[in-house]
Amino acid sequence: MDRLVTIILAAGKGTRMKSDLVKVLHPIAGLAMLAYPIRAAQQIGCRRIIVVTGHQRAHVEAACSQEGIMFACQEEQLGSGHAVAVTQDLMEGFEGDVLILCGDVPLITAETLNRFVQSHREARAAVSVLSVSLDDPFGYGRIVRDASGNVTAIVEQRDATNSQQKIREINTGLYCCSASFLYKALSQVGTDNDQGEYYLPDIVKIGVGEGQKVQAIETDDFEEVRGINDRRGLAEAEKVMRRRILDSHMSNGVTIIDPDSTYIDAAVHIKHDTVIYPNTLIRGGSTIGSGCIIDINCSITNAVIGNNVHIKPSCVIDACSLEDNAAVGPMAHLRQQTVIAGGAIIGNFVEVKNSTVGKDSKACHLSYLGDATIGAEANIGAGTITCNYDGKKKHPTVIEDNVFVGSNTALVAPVTIAQGAVVGAGSTITENVPENSLAVARSKQVAYDTVSKKESEADEQKDG
Ligand code: UD1
Ligand code: CA
Repeated sequence: MDRLVTIILAAGKGTRMKSDLVKVLHPIAGLAMLAYPIRAAQQIGCRRIIVVTGHQRAHVEAACSQEGIMFACQEEQLGSGHAVAVTQDLMEGFEGDVLILCGDVPLITAETLNRFVQSHREARAAVSVLSVSLDDPFGYGRIVRDASGNVTAIVEQRDATNSQQKIREINTGLYCCSASFLYKALSQVGTDNDQGEYYLPDIVKIGVGEGQKVQAIETDDFEEVRGINDRRGLAEAEKVMRRRILDSHMSNGVTIIDPDSTYIDAAVHIKHDTVIYPNTLIRGGSTIGSGCIIDINCSITNAVIGNNVHIKPSCVIDACSLEDNAAVGPMAHLRQQTVIAGGAIIGNFVEVKNSTVGKDSKACHLSYLGDATIGAEANIGAGTITCNYDGKKKHPTVIEDNVFVGSNTALVAPVTIAQGAVVGAGSTITENVPENSLAVARSKQVAYDTVSKKESEADEQKDG
């Protein structure tokens, strides 16, 4: 959208969160609360965004710094009017409209903002306020209208007269103003109110006094404009956002068997015809291809998953990459920097860390593979353990193509099993195994004579 700057107020601490973390950085569906109004502004095509920071400024700036975003610092929180005034230097020479959002109003949608800015522009207003009518308006600033319905002022709860307190139409705290009017009006805002603060809503009264066009545009969706003040509000916002995220995946052709028990973060991408079973969490920046099955009770974080991957029940997958047609689980634990190549199978009770499992290789039961590089078409028998840690350092294990490792084998790293080699079951391998050889490293089986055997042999001799 042309000639539009968005200002997002995010200087407040958020005392009612009772947190060491500033309110606007509390995550909702895996993204900081502040990321949502930023994204909504970007979605309507606004390319200049100014975030007003104060409390934990450095943190807030680090968390949302990206192209097109500038920061204005409000050292002391002297009120919402003052918060907007600190952006003035950055706005030098700008002639268009200013959309003012709040960092703690994360559920606002691009559609609503689009309509709001359009109607502000169509009305050629100096200031437009987004309002909503509530059954219980307590605590909010009220929209005061005259007999013909024109907006005349906004009065805060604590400054309102008894009759003004009965007004149900409230100020959502979202505004659209012409830049030239806004900064002129802000220079006239005083602190003559119950809190002794510079109130941004006072620009309404100032505009009316100057004979400017002032309007309140009413929305009927309170959910979108609700401010988050405490942990209860945070949980409610999480719920709404989660449902929106699931809806958008379902619109894109993803089957979600039970939306009530499926949790997908905002930055996750999933392609069509993937099916997600109940009790699943998919977090961070995970991407999932098409035709996958994510069965029940899985936790998937920052994973890159190809097409037609089958993740069986109760897997924990963290920062891994699974290529097309891989299968894992049930009850597999894939840890950081693991790559499971196409067609490979990781079975139950297998833990894999910082390892590559090559194409069509299998580790089907009860193994630990850590710091290992496994080639193609290898078979890792049940109970194979890479002993990667000597108490001080981690060491690598290399298992080349077509290796067969028998069950219950310990591979003491650093060690290489060269291609085509076979390791006998129960071996403890401490030295490299050459290509195509059979390595057996266990004590030889001995069958000792027992007393009863000797007696039976003696009996046989007697009979003979
Ligand atoms: C404000 C409005 C009220 C409206 C309500 C909607 C004022 C005076 N009142 O009240 O009419 O109904 O929002 O939720 O604005 N902020 C700063 N710096 C400051 C003060 C505030 O950045 O010095 C930011 C806050 O972080 C917040 C926003 O401005 O994002 C609103 O301020 P807040 O103190 O929450 O005002 P309310 O009392 O909620
Ligand atoms: Ca508030």
